[in-house]
Amino acid sequence: MARLPGIIIVFLCAFSILDLSNGVQQLRFDKTKGEFRILQVADMHYAEGRKTACEDVLPEQFAHCSDLNTTFFIERMIRAEKPDLVVFTGDNIYGADTTDPVASMDAAFGPAVSSNIPWAAVLGNHDQESTLSREVHGIEGSDFGNESVLNLYFLDSGDYSTVPSIPGYGWIKPSQQFWFQQTSMKLQKKLKAPGLAYFHIPLPEYASFDSSNFTGVKQEGISSASVNSGFFTTLVEAGDVKAVFTGHDHINDFCGELTGIHLCYAGGFGYHAYGKAGWSRRARVVVVSLEKKSNGSWGTVKSINTYKRLDDENLTVIDNQVLFKTPSGNVTIWKFQSSVSVWRIQTLRLGEGIAEYRFH
Ligand SMILES: *[C@@H]1O[C@H](CO)[C@@H](O)[C@H](O)[C@H]1NC(C)=O
Ligand SMILES: *[C@@H]1O[C@H](CO)[C@@H](O)[C@H](O)[C@H]1NC(C)=O
Ligand SMILES: *[C@@H]1O[C@H](CO)[C@@H](O)[C@H](O)[C@H]1NC(C)=O
Ligand SMILES: *[C@@H]1O[C@H](CO)[C@@H](O)[C@H](O)[C@H]1NC(C)=O
Ligand SMILES: *[C@@H]1O[C@H](CO)[C@@H](O)[C@H](O)[C@H]1NC(C)=O
Ligand SMILES: *[C@@H]1O[C@H](CO)[C@@H](O)[C@H](O)[C@H]1NC(C)=O
Repeated sequence: MARLPGIIIVFLCAFSILDLSNGVQQLRFDKTKGEFRILQVADMHYAEGRKTACEDVLPEQFAHCSDLNTTFFIERMIRAEKPDLVVFTGDNIYGADTTDPVASMDAAFGPAVSSNIPWAAVLGNHDQESTLSREVHGIEGSDFGNESVLNLYFLDSGDYSTVPSIPGYGWIKPSQQFWFQQTSMKLQKKLKAPGLAYFHIPLPEYASFDSSNFTGVKQEGISSASVNSGFFTTLVEAGDVKAVFTGHDHINDFCGELTGIHLCYAGGFGYHAYGKAGWSRRARVVVVSLEKKSNGSWGTVKSINTYKRLDDENLTVIDNQVLFKTPSGNVTIWKFQSSVSVWRIQTLRLGEGIAEYRFH
């Protein structure tokens, strides 16, 4: 979408793509409900806090609206959802309107940091390509306590094309797709767990839908790259990713299914970002549920649901939909015993090959 800033200053290094303050903490399903909840925050466009005015709110709302409304919204979402992971899908700050991007970044991520909930951020940054996957382990003490039953992929879709003959936005590069293929194959050898992918810029395939076959709204064009780098095909071939979540187009918030993969927008979250006056800022929540066996023990993933919450007085829930469901609650898996439980953090810089970092 239109009205994108000339520059998005992002200079977190590849490592800080993820909060490592809890370096030994594993992502794990909740023991009582057998659930893992992910809060997606798209396009905060955070600048200088109280000083920074809102965009596209109703005339009577301008006087009392700033970046702090974005902060309050995250705080309320965290209280309401108690997510197990918060994912920021890019345009987290608005570089053009801040003199101190580090402070903006700190303020933008502040509520997630102080909540002590693990969080991950993908960035629009053409200097560094950062790519990472995380495993979410089953219930401790269950048969899947040491296995990843859900795989999360975070990719940097760049910001603008760096190829002079190709105009427009960035794309997921062949080197990143190679990383994805290798990672997906490796993870699936252990246990065929479903995956979810998060990045900023929608794939060209987001244009495959209309209101007859998506849930949500489309109020602007699909601002993907002007070329198709083939990542959708790569996802279909790999077979584990059930849904893709992006931001970038603030007033599109739909999810549509193409060839077994749901392509979803979150809808714009931030107040200092273009939006639509009178159309609430919003966030997307994903709830992944485990199967409960007849003897009461927890199994593998049974279903994945999603909905959005609006920033109104009730944080109204809309558009609840199923993204994935096992045929009858039964899962067929083939697995190899693995004693390693790690956070796998892989960074990939163009021209530098692949490095893998493990944190036990
Ligand atoms: C922004 O926050 C202020 C203070 O809480 C509130 O009065 C105002 O209604 C909020 N504006 C919007 C558009 O939500
Ligand atoms: C998981 O790992 C722990 C510690 O290594 C071990 O005690 C436990 O038996 C393992 N559980 C399963 C289901 O393999
Ligand atoms: C959605 O419906 C339109 C026709 O209304 C069709 O052209 C399009 O192919 C459909 N998309 C998918 C993914 O089924
Ligand atoms: C429950 O049943 C599953 C097989 O469905 C089995 O693998 C598991 O060990 C059982 N758990 C307990 C606590 O009996
Ligand atoms: C919020 O919920 C209350 C009580 O159910 C209701 O009266 C009110 O209209 C709701 N507000 C919005 C914005 O939906
Ligand atoms: C699923 O599991 C239940 C009990 O665990 C069994 O009764 C049912 O036949 C299974 N369904 C399929 C399709 O395997």
